[in-house]
Amino acid sequence: MKIGLLGLGTVGAGAYEIIENQKGRLQEFYQEELTVERILVRNLNKKRPVEVPDGKLTCDADEILNDPSIDVILSLMGGMEPAKTYILKALQNGKHVITSNKAVVAANLSLFLNEAKKSNVAFLFEGAVGGGIPIIKPLKQQRRLNQIEAIEGILNGTTNFILTQMMENKLEFDTVLADAQARGYAEADPSADIDGFDVQRKIAILSSLAYGQEIPTEKVYTRGIRSIRGIDTDYFQSKNLDVKLVASSAQQDDAISIWVEPCIVDPSHRFYAIKNSDNVVSFIGHLSGRLDFVGAGAGMDPTANAVISDLMDILDNHYQADIIPLAIAKNVGPTHASQDYYLRVDLLSCTKSEQARLAEQLLNLGLANNQEIYQGMIEGIEASMMRAIVSDVEKECGSIFYARRLRG
Ligand code: HSE
Repeated sequence: MKIGLLGLGTVGAGAYEIIENQKGRLQEFYQEELTVERILVRNLNKKRPVEVPDGKLTCDADEILNDPSIDVILSLMGGMEPAKTYILKALQNGKHVITSNKAVVAANLSLFLNEAKKSNVAFLFEGAVGGGIPIIKPLKQQRRLNQIEAIEGILNGTTNFILTQMMENKLEFDTVLADAQARGYAEADPSADIDGFDVQRKIAILSSLAYGQEIPTEKVYTRGIRSIRGIDTDYFQSKNLDVKLVASSAQQDDAISIWVEPCIVDPSHRFYAIKNSDNVVSFIGHLSGRLDFVGAGAGMDPTANAVISDLMDILDNHYQADIIPLAIAKNVGPTHASQDYYLRVDLLSCTKSEQARLAEQLLNLGLANNQEIYQGMIEGIEASMMRAIVSDVEKECGSIFYARRLRG
């Protein structure tokens, strides 16, 4: 089998290395030689994490996409374009496609699945969600009989690493983010991680597969962790709580509620023990009950291993049944249920009149004031009211961090 590799970043280099280092074992198992034939890069002379023989690298995608001898494309480059164009072209040219690019999958899932079906090839993306955790394959298999009612998880290694290090080692946000980048966890543009968009894409992909409806990412209410400060983590520590960036979706009747928000958990919660770059994905099926999948959520080897597991599914011819028709999703939005929240608002940079107006609201919610920093727990407030307060404060002047209390 001949492979064309698009992109030689963290995941691309990891996948190349696994194929090269495990060549003998793969050949022994499949009685077939696996060769990375060509690799698309932007710059031929850049220093890379892996050594590649001269002649394999090219800057011309058509040399790979139009090469009839290439059977499988590993599209391991980030961003929307040209990744979308290359994936479509590869599928239309009758090549199997494997990708770990969640942005392009979340935005084009139906399109890619339909193209793959037309060409009778695989479109697989295990590495796009949960890093090294095998979750896409079990979800696709389970949903055939086991109706999925809800999904919940910690789906970003970078933010979980940042939050763990801030909580346990009292490190500053920026220091830990730089460390997460050095370890190969963070996206090229880390705002995708810290503002929650990476998680938004992942929960949209999982929910689309689980409920058989294509869920647009813009329908996922999303908050990240950019505004968390030591004052917040100190508060959580004093109450024996931990903080996580959580994604959740649930289907009831014909409505889907879906959101991404920081959440606080106490030591009895199953997410409490998920530390550093580990992720967890839980889904609840009407036959299985809750199933938890835990493992490395980011990093070169775990994610590359997920990519190679897709490659093995193609070699095993286990991909045909994977193609799920997706309907257009109806009634998708954030939850409106009442929740308990932690809230911290900093009104120091507001004008006196703004301070007075917002302070009255915040004191009425029961927050304590310490030199124009308002902080505390709010019990039983509707999620929509909380979102309105947040948008009011942010529109006016204040910096804010909030986290939903997760129980169960
Ligand atoms: N930046 C992502 C994360 C990589 O930190 O989870 C894995 O999808």
